[in-house]
Amino acid sequence: MKIAFLTAECEPYAKTGGLGDVSSALPVALTNLGCDIRVFLPLYKQIDTGKFKLKKAGKPEGYDIKINNLSHHFNLYTTEKEKVEIYFIDCPEYYHRDSIYTNDADEDERFIFFQYAALTSLEIIGFQPDIIHCNDWQSALVPEILNINFRKNKFYGNIKTLLTIHNLAYQGTFKKETTLKAGLPIEKFFPGGPYELYGNFNFLKIGIEYVDSINTVSQRYSEEILTKEYGAGLEGVLETRKNVLSGILNGIDTKEWSPEVDNYLPVNYNYDTLNLKSEVKKELLKRSHLNYNSENLLIGMVSRFVWQKGYDILNDIMDEILSENIEMIILGDGDKKYLDFFQKYIDKYPGKICLHYGYNNELAHLITAGSDAFLMPSRYEPCGLNQMYSLRYGTLPIVRKTGGLADTVTDITEDEKKGNGFVFENFVPIELMNKIYTAQDIFKNDKAKWKIMQKRGMEMDFTWNNSAEKYLRLYKSIIK
Ligand code: ADP
Ligand code: GLC
Repeated sequence: MKIAFLTAECEPYAKTGGLGDVSSALPVALTNLGCDIRVFLPLYKQIDTGKFKLKKAGKPEGYDIKINNLSHHFNLYTTEKEKVEIYFIDCPEYYHRDSIYTNDADEDERFIFFQYAALTSLEIIGFQPDIIHCNDWQSALVPEILNINFRKNKFYGNIKTLLTIHNLAYQGTFKKETTLKAGLPIEKFFPGGPYELYGNFNFLKIGIEYVDSINTVSQRYSEEILTKEYGAGLEGVLETRKNVLSGILNGIDTKEWSPEVDNYLPVNYNYDTLNLKSEVKKELLKRSHLNYNSENLLIGMVSRFVWQKGYDILNDIMDEILSENIEMIILGDGDKKYLDFFQKYIDKYPGKICLHYGYNNELAHLITAGSDAFLMPSRYEPCGLNQMYSLRYGTLPIVRKTGGLADTVTDITEDEKKGNGFVFENFVPIELMNKIYTAQDIFKNDKAKWKIMQKRGMEMDFTWNNSAEKYLRLYKSIIK
């Protein structure tokens, strides 16, 4: 099985969230199952070409491609990561910006170009995939660009396509003019037509319409997105493709995320040496300038500061919970309004709450391991990796019952025999607060039960192998 995997992020080269983790680990797992898979991503300015030993692929002078009569130049680079060949589209004009994603006026062109360049590169390197696996809006135009501009070339004639939706809320919406920039026929842009949604050109909608198969990153999210509440305006289009829509839960990379091998921790621990976890807690508290008190439940949070993650729900309950034997450590990057939000409480409850602002992988590991509980009150969560990381580290997740969170965490009061965390149903502060209190109660008064729950979580198998097998099965069904 030959797969071209197109993505805007891939660890360790470029990552802002879970897409980076998935694009790094899934191709490796598929390679181990015998797939020949090539990953394509843009060569962002932030990628250290020396450190990752990038070599030029193809012609030394690079390549020109024409989109809508405009010519652009790019070079192709490659490197190998765990037997997977990674290809980088080098075009400084587009990818030498201060961040991976931008609000610049040519954001549409940046990812249109990426898709053309990746498609063109397939022939350059002589790799004719059975399937092009697209991820999110940044490569969602591939099926239609293939149809309109590549299929007449025999090399591309029979290639099938899969679109994985990691997050339906990011759709790639731009003005009508983007149609032409994308080298697509303007006749197909009209109200209610295939390229249009609410007056805009919509990358994701086009992908959903023309791709051979679609999957989301958890089973539950594949069902949720058919509803108005979660469909982000695309529920109608998704309904028409329901027959090719499925859900495959992400896995986790246990070489990166396991307490027994994690290089970022001051001490490693496992199922049998769980008592060492408190050493990590002490180190985490020290780094966060908080005091250690074994009675205090330490709640950790790591995420992008965005609406999706549900921080706003904390608004009404921070006073209550911080008056208890509860401490909080938050690591977040993104919307600065959350800085002000947490600062209020840092001033009011000194020594009880710490905010680390920015992107910090080492600290993400330390918080995952050193906290007692891990909080994810997401409004929606296509999969969520952090709750699975937490489970693996014996850190009990407190989550909202949505998407992948609902598929991986079982509430202890709902199921004494399977409970591995705390799950609240509705996005209302009181429900969250009650769950935090349940967690605190068990943590303080029933240490044996807490430990059973920790061990239950640590024993769960979220390795990529399971998920990769499901992808392989899906690939096979697509080319049948
Ligand atoms: P999403 O992709 O929506 O951000 P996921 O739970 O799938 O959510 O994945 C988030 C990934 O990004 C995890 O690997 C998490 O540890 C990491 N991450 C998120 N925010 C930060 C941050 N501020 N610093 C370091 N890592 C972060
Ligand atoms: C998205 C989702 C997250 C998911 C990740 C990887 O960013 O928000 O829930 O885990 O993609 O698939």
